[in-house]
Amino acid sequence: VKQVRVGLVGLGTVGCGALNILQKSAELMTQRSGCEIKVVMASARDLTRSRPCDTTQLELTTDPMAVATSPNVDVVLELMGGTDTAKSVVEAALQSGKHVVTANKALIARHGNALFALAAQQGVQLTFEAAVAGGIPIIKALREGLAANKIEWLAGIINGTTNFILTEMREKKRTFEDVLKEAQALGYAEVDPTFDVEGIDAAHKLVILASLAFGMPFNFEACYTEGVTKITQADIQYADALGFRIKHLGFAKQGAQGIEMRVHPVLVPKTHLLGQVDGVMNAVLVKGDQVGQTLYYGPGAGAGPTASAVIADLLDVVRLMAAPSAAVAPMAVQDSAVKTRAAARIDQIKSAYYLRISAEDKPGVLRGITQALADESISVEAMNQKAPANEGQTVDLVILTNKVVEASMNAALEKISQSAGVLGEVMRIRVDSLN
Ligand code: NDP
Ligand code: HSE
Repeated sequence: VKQVRVGLVGLGTVGCGALNILQKSAELMTQRSGCEIKVVMASARDLTRSRPCDTTQLELTTDPMAVATSPNVDVVLELMGGTDTAKSVVEAALQSGKHVVTANKALIARHGNALFALAAQQGVQLTFEAAVAGGIPIIKALREGLAANKIEWLAGIINGTTNFILTEMREKKRTFEDVLKEAQALGYAEVDPTFDVEGIDAAHKLVILASLAFGMPFNFEACYTEGVTKITQADIQYADALGFRIKHLGFAKQGAQGIEMRVHPVLVPKTHLLGQVDGVMNAVLVKGDQVGQTLYYGPGAGAGPTASAVIADLLDVVRLMAAPSAAVAPMAVQDSAVKTRAAARIDQIKSAYYLRISAEDKPGVLRGITQALADESISVEAMNQKAPANEGQTVDLVILTNKVVEASMNAALEKISQSAGVLGEVMRIRVDSLN
């Protein structure tokens, strides 16, 4: 049995998870890949830190470049995160003729085009299953399982931290800050959790999914990104009363104006499968022209699930070391077929909307609001008014609209915010029945 030597860059949540699988299931890994896979070297910032994995048999260093360029390493697992040092490390590993497995969605979404070109030039693999939706094999599904289909659209809950936060806020009425702290302690959140709560992490993942779905280069700048920080407990309860759940979703679809790539909160029907994906679980719904809708569900973050995807990639790489010509094209289509496509702007999309408007409890306020909507030909599908506890207090008006072009909604919101009796910013969340 041939031996393949692995170098680990990063010994955090995912790095230790990967090391644990390779050590504890070594025999199974050999049965699956046909090779003995041995982790020989690893890097971390602080070598004195106690870790939930056994590093005693490894050569340890604080220098990730030493792993990337070591003559004793055949495959590098980049599990350190970030886009600066990590990029140099991956470039160095590829330039040294090593295969690279990464879980780093930021790196792929922002620098993937150049990195895949380098990998192709060097004749080595760069794989990234763990970068999207944790333990769900969604990259394999798009690239291989759905290869017969033209992908029409996909929609997914692709950030475990935000889904965990929204679920705990709804089910246990916990505060945003309290749940975020727990998500960090559980190893779900990014090093900088604003990446999670502001939607940046989901945008990284969505851009990767969109590129594979539509055979186009990664274009992070074209993705509309909105997080969950403005969602209040009240919004969650109002949505619930109307039969919806608030979910943070990523959408990629072929729209009339180009490819839509967007991540933002959405009201989805409680009865829809995506409405029932709770906690750290992720789910991606993919519509193919032949298969129809398929749904992929599983844990989106954490050591075991993410390492599961990392190791699946590693096993693929090890198998391909024996037969490189059998590799599936990294972008799902041959490199010559990867084409830049027009991107739709967010104000060109069509959506229904949930609006929560804080207003004075006095005659005429509602008329101003409905007039602003009517001026833009927007219909009200449902409306709720939460009566104030005391006279003179503000009321929350909750409105569900029909589907309109977002530019019309923006124009109506502009008028509503200037309408007499309307107080503060209007909360606007897109509504989607995901059909
Ligand atoms: P951690 O912060 O837990 O681990 C990062 C590791 O990299 C640590 O061992 C750290 O060293 C080391 N490291 C960081 N910077 C440097 C540096 N400059 N020099 C040397 N070593 C460094 O991160 P995660 O394991 O959570 O995430 C790793 C990657 O996986 C990221 O790209 C993340 O986005 C991705 N990912 C994470 C998921 C998760 O659920 N956590 C899920 C899917 C993807 P030290 O331990 O000494 O600090
Ligand atoms: N911070 C990410 C999340 C990790 O919460 O989904 C998995 O990519």
